[in-house]
Amino acid sequence: MKSSTYLIYGFVFVSLLVTIYLYIVNKTDPQKVISQEEQSSTTNSTTDASTVYTLADISSHNTESSCWMAISGAVYDVTAYFPKHNPQIVQGCGRDATQMFNSERKHLRKGTAILPEYKIGVLGN
Ligand code: HEM
Repeated sequence: MKSSTYLIYGFVFVSLLVTIYLYIVNKTDPQKVISQEEQSSTTNSTTDASTVYTLADISSHNTESSCWMAISGAVYDVTAYFPKHNPQIVQGCGRDATQMFNSERKHLRKGTAILPEYKIGVLGN
């Protein structure tokens, strides 16, 4: 084979590798996932409940039979989600669970996408 043929094959091969790499990076970039989810929650916010709850209101819903939690300024009633989650979720009931929620990697994509459907209001003073 001529050396120019090798060059062409080499170029095609490298381009293919770069394309695959960019595809994977794009798919798993957490920043991108967050911004997409932020966009969708902004779109939903007009239909979300805007009732204001205080931490005192939330604190009495601290069990499996009634579990409310504040995450990033919004209030969620996640009682119905309990059977689908592992038991650790109870730690977040009745409180501001923002840090707890954000510290689990699996929440980045899946958890954040599910949250809006459980929103009941916003956190006030
Ligand atoms: C603040 C209280 C919470 C704690 C401590 C917590 C903890 C965890 C932990 C430790 C995992 C990893 C479990 C595993 O790998 O088996 C997880 C996964 C997950 N959590 Fe939470 N969680 C909380 C709240 C929530 C809420 C409110 C939602 C959504 C309504 C949620 C949705 C999810 C989802 C979708 C996953 C991924 C499950 C999977 O990949 O199969 N979590 N959580």
